[in-house]
Formats: sequence, structure tokens, C-alpha cells
Amino acid sequence: MRRKLVAGNWKMHGSLAENERLLDGVLAGMPGVKAEVAVCVPYPYLAQAQARLDGSALVWGAQNLSQHGKGAFTGEVSAAMLRDFGCKYVIVGHSERRALYGETDEIVAEKFVAAQAAGLIPILCVGETLGERESGVTERVIARQLDAVVAKSGVGALADAVLAYEPVWAIGTGKTASPEQAQDVHAFIRGKLAALDPSVAEALVIQYGGSVKANNAAELFAQPDIDGGLIGGASLAADEFLAVCRAA
Ligand code: 13P
Repeated sequence: MRRKLVAGNWKMHGSLAENERLLDGVLAGMPGVKAEVAVCVPYPYLAQAQARLDGSALVWGAQNLSQHGKGAFTGEVSAAMLRDFGCKYVIVGHSERRALYGETDEIVAEKFVAAQAAGLIPILCVGETLGERESGVTERVIARQLDAVVAKSGVGALADAVLAYEPVWAIGTGKTASPEQAQDVHAFIRGKLAALDPSVAEALVIQYGGSVKANNAAELFAQPDIDGGLIGGASLAADEFLAVCRAA
């Protein structure tokens, strides 16, 4: 049995006061949760996450990082800085970064390398848009996104990474992929990687993300190749997030 991981992606939400309440609420419910649970918070709140969560049942991470180690990159944050604040995970290649901030497959692959070089576990996001799904190129798109990372890092690097399948059309839209649609893509990903390294593919945690809620998490997480979730909106309320975590 693969381990299950549920990660909250807060995106650009929160305040010191709201986060305090949310983290307290989630921590209070952790004794009923078997899966590993992470929260990926906005950069300014990493210190708060570290202070509140160090030694607790929750781990934390960031939502992005620079592909560069240091230097004249105004506004950017390096992997080593994230490590300084105790991050275990960092989301890499989220579709919002790809679509809104011009992150190409190549840049995403560089960020993946930078994260691992600093000892962070990248949560690598892949997924197709609605147009791509409707034109029947879902697998081709996901293969291209994966190939870019495997070409730079080698398939062995996925032993220290997590994958998240996030169909862009299901993110924040309330439209979830059906358990069968999600399972099909997860099985495709695992099969593709198994052709390169069966043991890495078998052990790889592949999360599903896209409108996961308390009322649909259990059927998604029951699929054989779905190993937990990357949760946006539903990670912003403790009760809802805990219900998703308990489903894993
Ligand atoms: P929602 O759960 O809000 O659809 O967001 C999913 C997501 O993008 C997580 O990274």
C-alpha cells in the first residue's frame, strides 16, 4: 500500500489571524487522520506555519519557488530560503503558475531540480485544459509535462517527489473529474513511468486536485492509483479540510 498525502494549497488567501484559527482547527482534528497532511501557505506566512506547526502532526510547504539559487532576482524566493523556514514540500508547476506567470515545461523542470537540490520534496502538478481534453490530447499534454522533468532529472528523481494530477477545467470550478476520469489519467501516468522504472512508478504518490470536497473525496481516494489530494478551496475551512483528510 502506498502512503496517502493530502496537501492544502491555500493559494493567495489568509491573514495572520485567519491562519491561526485555521491551523488550530486543523490541528485539533489531526488525531482522527491517518494520511500525512501538509499545508502550502503563502510565503509571508511560512514563519507563522513553522512556529505553530513545528513538532506537530502537520507539515508545511510553499506554493512556488525560484529556479535560481540566489542573486539579482527581485521578488523571488529560493529553495534554500524555504528550507530555512522548515518547508518539507513545495508545489511546482501549478497550472495557475503555468497559465498566469508564463512557466514553461522547461522552467517547471528547473524549479523541480532546484527544489530537490535543497532537500525539498516537489509536488509536481500536471494537467490538461478543457480545450485539450475536448480535442482528445489529454495524455499527450501530460506526457509532455512529465517528459520535461524526466529529461532534466531522470526518472529516479521521482522517488523523492510527489505528482499531482490537476485537470485545469476542474480547478476552482466546482466541476470535479469523475473518479473514473481521474483514475484513467493516474493509471496512464503510473504506466508511463513504469515503462522507465517500475519500482519508482509503483511507489510514487499521485494526488488528484480539482474541486475536491468533503462530499466527493472518498470516492476519488478509493481509486487504486489516487493517493490523496491537492486541495484548494476546501483547505480554507478546518472542518471541510479535515473531512477530506479523513477520507484519505
Ligand atoms: P480547488 O480545490 O479550489 O479546485 O483547487 C485545486 C488546486 O488548484 C489545488 O492546487
